[in-house]
Amino acid sequence: MASVPGSHRPLRKAVLPVAGFGTRVLPATKVIPKELLPVFDKPALQYVVDEAIAAGIEHIVFVTGRNKGAIEDYFDRAYELEVTLEAKKKETELNEVRSPIRAAGSMSFVRQQAALGLGHAVWCARDIVGDEPFAVMLPDMLMMAEPGCLKQMVDAYNRVGGNLIAVEPTGTPERYGVITPESRDGRLIKMKGMVEKPKREEAPSNLFISGRYILQPEIFALLESQGPGAGNEIQLTDSMARLMQSQTFHAYEYEGRTYDCGDKIGYLQAFAAYALAHDQYGEQAAETLRALLADKG
Ligand code: G1P
Repeated sequence: MASVPGSHRPLRKAVLPVAGFGTRVLPATKVIPKELLPVFDKPALQYVVDEAIAAGIEHIVFVTGRNKGAIEDYFDRAYELEVTLEAKKKETELNEVRSPIRAAGSMSFVRQQAALGLGHAVWCARDIVGDEPFAVMLPDMLMMAEPGCLKQMVDAYNRVGGNLIAVEPTGTPERYGVITPESRDGRLIKMKGMVEKPKREEAPSNLFISGRYILQPEIFALLESQGPGAGNEIQLTDSMARLMQSQTFHAYEYEGRTYDCGDKIGYLQAFAAYALAHDQYGEQAAETLRALLADKG
C-alpha cells in the first residue's frame, strides 16, 4: 500500500493526553495529577516532555481535565520561589526550578470535558494540531532509552513515512492494544491489523501498543465518527485500524526499557529504575535499596 502524499512531512507537534483520573494510584492522585508524581527527582511528565524535545518536537499539546491545573503551573514561572532562591543565591535550585520552562507559545492546553477514552482525548487536539503529522505520547509510559524512543521512531519515520506505532512484547495482551504483524525488517514491523484489549486467547500476537505514536492528521476525521469500543470508550486503536485501510502503518520495536507508571507496582519500579540510573545519585540509590532489602531479610 502506498504512503499518503505528504506523509514524510516533518513532525513538529506532540499530543500528551493528561486528563486521566489516575484511579490505579489512589489516594496519591486524589489532588495531585498522576503525571506530576515524582519519579525520583522529576515529575513523571518531565521525562516524557524531555523525550519529545530530544526528538525535535517544537510544540506540545496537553489534553488536560479538571483538577489538572498544576500541570500548567509546573511549566510556568514560579515567581515567588524564583525570587526567594535568587535572593539566597541558590543557583542550582534556581536552574532546576526554571528547567521545565519552554519558549513562550510552545505549549498548548486543551480540556477534555469528559473521560470518553483515548481516541476522544486525541481528537480534542485536532484544531491545535491542524493538517500535519503529530506524535501521541502516553505519559504513563516512561521509556528509558538512548536515544529516546520517539527519536528512534522519528528516524524510522523519516525512512518509511505514514503512520508508526511503538510496540513491544507483553505477557498480558488483554490489557493493551495489540497488533497483527505481517513481516519484519529489524526493528520495523509491517502490520496487518490491530485490536484494542483482545480476549487473551484471541490476541493476534504478544506485541502491544506501548504508548508512542506518529500519526497522520487524517486520523482526526475518523476519530470524529468513532463509536465506543472496548470498555465502552472511544478508542484510538479502532480509528487507527480504520486509517490502515488507506494509509501505511508500521510498528516499531524500540531499543530500551518501558516502565508503566499507571499502577502502584509499576510506579515503584519506575521510581527505583530512574533513581538507579541517575548520574549523581545512582550509586547511593543502589546502596540504599540493597540495604533496605537486606533489612527485610
Ligand atoms: C491505552 C491504549 C492501548 C495501549 C495502552 C498503553 O490503553 O488504548 O492501545 O496499549 O494505552 O498503555 P489504556 O492504558 O488507556 O487502557
